[in-house]
Amino acid sequence: MKNELTNDILRVLYTEDEIKARVEELGAALAARFAGQRPLFVGILKGSLIFLADLIRACPLLCDLEMMAVSSYGNATSSSGRVRINHDLQQDVRGRDLVVVEDILDSGNTLAFLRDYLTAKGAASITIVTLLDKPSGRQKAVTADYVGFTVPDEFVVGYGLDYAQLYRNLPCIGVLKPEVYGKPDKT
Ligand code: XMP
Ligand code: MG
Repeated sequence: MKNELTNDILRVLYTEDEIKARVEELGAALAARFAGQRPLFVGILKGSLIFLADLIRACPLLCDLEMMAVSSYGNATSSSGRVRINHDLQQDVRGRDLVVVEDILDSGNTLAFLRDYLTAKGAASITIVTLLDKPSGRQKAVTADYVGFTVPDEFVVGYGLDYAQLYRNLPCIGVLKPEVYGKPDKT
């Protein structure tokens, strides 16, 4: 389908159907893992928003939901090591089994920071679920417990992931045309 959004995509890595099937598998795996328990999902805004919404509906458990918003500093397509919390937890997580839901694990800076932060808050356990894993970018030793797809060393957008705040609403995941990067921010 051609439209304003898809025109900028060079290559689709995962189609809408492929993502749906994988998210169903992840939801079922989490439901089995936490059967009879009441985990607290912690979605990391904004990138995980769409994944999180689909994942929790694919996971028929009694569960709680929290959101955190963090930003890590660097240029548009690579992160620095510094992470800042822009929106914090609204409830006590002491003694809770947390399921942290991220869009992409790249350098590992964000999840390393969150893992330490949530451990310090007294979480009983921390399970990391990331839609995408880009192992080639890793700077910190972080491993996800559940991974949707392992991606090559390319900047990807769609299904929640942005470039300059755009393309989050693309239903698939893909790589942008080179000429799009470096265009002035459209926002
Ligand atoms: P780190 O490097 O801290 O990355 O593991 C975590 C955050 O960086 C963003 N990120 C990306 N966003 N396409 C994106 O749209 C990418 O290829 C990409 N790589 C890193 C993302 O916000 C993630 O939460
Ligand atoms: Mg992001």
